[in-house]
Amino acid sequence: MSTIFVTGGAGFIGSHTCLLLLQKGYKLVVLDSLINSSKISLERVSEIVFQKYNSERIKFINGDIRNNDLLESIFNDAVLNREEFEGVIHFAGLKAVGESVSYPLKYWDANVNGSITLLKVMDKYNCRTIVFSSSATIYKKTENNLKLTENSKIKPSNPYGETKYVIEKILNNLFRFSSSKWKIASLRYFNPIGAHKSGLIGENPSGIPNNIFPFITQVGLKKFDYLKVFGNDWDTYDGSGVRDYIHVMDLAEGHVAAMEYLFKLDEKNININLGTGIGTSVFDLISTFKKVNKIELPFKVVGRRDGDIGYLVANNSLAKSLLNWEPSLNLEEMCIDGWNWQKNNPNGFQN
Ligand code: NAD
Ligand code: UFG
Repeated sequence: MSTIFVTGGAGFIGSHTCLLLLQKGYKLVVLDSLINSSKISLERVSEIVFQKYNSERIKFINGDIRNNDLLESIFNDAVLNREEFEGVIHFAGLKAVGESVSYPLKYWDANVNGSITLLKVMDKYNCRTIVFSSSATIYKKTENNLKLTENSKIKPSNPYGETKYVIEKILNNLFRFSSSKWKIASLRYFNPIGAHKSGLIGENPSGIPNNIFPFITQVGLKKFDYLKVFGNDWDTYDGSGVRDYIHVMDLAEGHVAAMEYLFKLDEKNININLGTGIGTSVFDLISTFKKVNKIELPFKVVGRRDGDIGYLVANNSLAKSLLNWEPSLNLEEMCIDGWNWQKNNPNGFQN
């Protein structure tokens, strides 16, 4: 049974991926500073899989990826226990676009310095297989409504996106110039939403949600009176913004597929879009959410959001062909599962 080191595994995407990794038989060591999450997510993950907390299979360490000594001690313990990490899934980082514009250095430090510290320790301990959380936000904004391929132009428009692109560049550079063999997959996520079917884990944003889906679920809870729709004059099929929403469990499957793909190879460096390839407008998202959950969802159309774009959809053929991965959950399931989580946990993990 191989052991995977997961950074940021208590967060939204990390917790769902941990669940799947445990179900597939992996052992996990999770490092998370809990700056944007709760340890309860992992306790619930373990309960879902094992009906109790299973410290043999999932070990949680509360700490920061920038702490070199801590990372070294974690890797060292793994060697001493004869459980060297077969690979690393690197979710840990800050992700709020607006905050990154206000505090860019905070983002450079957490995301880039954090990744460099992690890579240095991985290299030292001969663990050179990494799946990295990148983002579709790195692509150049265009108005041509074409699906983005991995070769589409890259031009991040905020510090958060810039840090993701720089980490990809560091990984590329390492692959090209290191004397050792690395296996690297940078996964460029589109718009993950939904939650595990149990309703026990899900997205838990602090403060006012920036993204549409948690905002919708909080309008569903009546924490907000209505959703603001940012523009109905985009060049899209109904004028509202179009995105590629992907169920977080499909995204989690993509991580397992990417990791297992790397395990089979000798060396590799690859960037992969993870999206469904299906564009959904804000109006369609609202009407699907209302229909499947049978609740009211008041909204008002307001002006466009600064720096927004009309259309962002993945060409996901590389993921399908290379990883033999296929998203299987549709928008209705994303809306049902996301609402199931939210209505059962109106205060997230703070119940
Ligand atoms: P999240 O905030 O729920 O998860 C990130 C986790 O990392 C949190 O648990 C947080 O506490 C932890 N963390 C942050 N800084 C840390 C540090 N210095 N040391 C240790 N732990 C730290 O976010 P998420 O939505 O699960 O995103 C996971 C990754 O995917 C992030 O890197 C994010 O940038 C990326 N991503 C997310 C989206 C999205 O829409 N959710 C889209 C594209 C990319
Ligand atoms: N939207 C609204 N009202 C809201 C929030 C959003 O109408 O209150 C609209 C936006 O205009 C857009 C769509 O809903 O058309 C999706 O917006 P999100 O903010 O949920 O998602 P974005 O695609 O704009 O951005 C998110 C992350 C980025 C990431 C990107 C792709 O915030 O970091 O997904 O992965 F890069």
